[in-house]
Amino acid sequence: MTKNISLRKAKEAKNDEFYTPWDPIEKEINSYLEFNPDVFRGKTILLPADDPFESNFFKFFALHFKEYGLKKLIATSYDGSPIVNTQLSLFDDESEQTNRFYRAYKIELEDVEDINHDGVFNLDDVEALLNNEKYKLNHGNRSKVLSYLKGDGSYPAGDFRSQEVTRLRDQADIIITNPPFSLFREFMNWIKPTEKKFLVIGNNNAVTYKEIFPLIKNNIIWLGVHNGDMSFRVPDDYPPRKTRYWVDEHNQKWRSLGNIDWITNLDHGRRHQPLSLMSMEQNIRFSRHKQVREDGYVHYYNFDGIEVPYYDAIPNDYDGVMGVPITFLGKYNPEQFEIIGMDIKDEAEKLGIKPIGEKWCKIYFDQGGTGHFSPNMRNLVVLKNNKARSIYRRVLIRAKHPVKKGD
Ligand SMILES: C[S@@+](CC[C@H](N)C(=O)[O-])C[C@H]1O[C@@H](n2cnc3c(N)ncnc32)[C@H](O)[C@@H]1O
Repeated sequence: MTKNISLRKAKEAKNDEFYTPWDPIEKEINSYLEFNPDVFRGKTILLPADDPFESNFFKFFALHFKEYGLKKLIATSYDGSPIVNTQLSLFDDESEQTNRFYRAYKIELEDVEDINHDGVFNLDDVEALLNNEKYKLNHGNRSKVLSYLKGDGSYPAGDFRSQEVTRLRDQADIIITNPPFSLFREFMNWIKPTEKKFLVIGNNNAVTYKEIFPLIKNNIIWLGVHNGDMSFRVPDDYPPRKTRYWVDEHNQKWRSLGNIDWITNLDHGRRHQPLSLMSMEQNIRFSRHKQVREDGYVHYYNFDGIEVPYYDAIPNDYDGVMGVPITFLGKYNPEQFEIIGMDIKDEAEKLGIKPIGEKWCKIYFDQGGTGHFSPNMRNLVVLKNNKARSIYRRVLIRAKHPVKKGD
């Protein structure tokens, strides 16, 4: 591995320790329940990167176990996690501090009960359950629900790729988590997204991966409902940053990211709602985007389609191919649009995107353009009024039922 690659890998692995707060989990899960109140009924849910003592995913599903009609809830923690029982604990249980163990384990719940007999099942009971079972383990006794994971010759304990966790995947109906970002591609392959139901958090770039985009294009997987900005708890040793970083009143460090997506194959209402759009003529007159009012819709220089710089400026009466920013995927309704492809490296030629050519390059560099462009590259570009512009990353779409004049 070259130095650069290992530095990048180390940096990516750092980003693995972003812990999901309760609110975005609740908001997102509610969207699937609104669409199908029985979405989790009778199902086994696996949370494969979730220390039950730390993870809000575990806390959330344990709390709603009966209400959602779960058959089983399984969560596994990872041996390599720097936070295993060190911080971010959901429960401030000082008495347990001396009894910490640093090994990976799994919890398998088939029922939950009102342990403290106060007449309701709530987070106090989840806490009591975890602490009771952990106490048993720490004192050499067997627990019916909590056990250590062992790992195998290839992977450490709790690694989603280990045989133990893979066997749990095989018995799960739905896999849900915020997985380690540095292993996102591998994690998505491991899930078997064509066979298993899943809901995961990922970085928006992930939708452009060659393993993921074809599944989105073919409506096998899609984006969830609440994409964009999300805040995460991060471990103590994360260095401060100028932006998108703060420490709360409990001394907990936080980071926020603006490019987070939920990725899933669970159905939800948003993907059946059509985007409300204007015609091309109306957009050019009334769009809230100055660029659209001033430039209109430019035809690509090297591809038969038009450039649409904002998803809410998609003209509803255009029947050809349109290039839209990837934020469109968060608004995509497969009954309204068809996805043709994306201008990613391996796809460009198949899609009919032509090389940008000598002429475009010359005009671009003569006008002071920077960056690496050579005539045989197949980036999407435009040339208008002798001004050359390169366009970054577009999803190519076509309306299924474009509005016809007079409709
Ligand atoms: C982004 S964090 C999210 C944790 C938790 N799912 C949540 O949402 O709060 C990813 C977690 O995966 C763990 N992890 C890293 N590599 C892993 C692996 N190979 N297998 C399983 N978990 C792993 C990290 O230690 C970390 O706890």
